[in-house]
Amino acid sequence: MTALPTLVMDPFSIKLDLEEGVMHDAKNHLVRCASDMRGYYVDKAALEELIAEGNDPVHYEVFETPVPQAYGHLMYCVSRLHPGKVGDEFFMTKGHYHSIVGTAEVYLCLRGEGYMLMKTSEGRCKSEPMSRGKMVYVPPCWAHRSINTGREPLVSFCVYPAEAGHNYGDIAQEGFPRRIFERKGQCVIE
Ligand code: PA5
Ligand code: NI
Repeated sequence: MTALPTLVMDPFSIKLDLEEGVMHDAKNHLVRCASDMRGYYVDKAALEELIAEGNDPVHYEVFETPVPQAYGHLMYCVSRLHPGKVGDEFFMTKGHYHSIVGTAEVYLCLRGEGYMLMKTSEGRCKSEPMSRGKMVYVPPCWAHRSINTGREPLVSFCVYPAEAGHNYGDIAQEGFPRRIFERKGQCVIE
């Protein structure tokens, strides 16, 4: 029988700190600060104030241990979005379509409170509340962004086809049709 050593990858495992939502030995630790979020919030002046006064606070982190970006593999990561607001708008991720638009993603929320906001390029928009134990299925063709409406980090475990890729450009231009604000102490989707 022909051996396939070069095609067969060794299994591996990695530890996730479920309390903190941190992968301590992740190979990649991506950090997005407030200054990386220019152009994403309604209140641009509030974002600049936050950057100036708050020493450019961390907005969110992604922990991942990469796998080959090839058909058949699954990429998995942990997304950790800090609590806070820019003006009245809750902290959120940039959001993206997948570069291979026909690929889905599963989010399992481990900690915190918030929403997954999703949109199609035709302008359909949906939101799903997120809290510990909630699993959100993001179907193919839906751009997705998470929003932290709580007081602690919003932590999710995400899995998607490893070849999917991230397309940030379209969302940077289009935005999402809805945003989530705190109005008079209430969380409001507008
Ligand atoms: O794979 C995902 O969808 C997540 O891990 C996100 O990449 C993560 O939440 C960060 O968001 P974004 O990639 O939109 O900056
Ligand atoms: Ni994604």
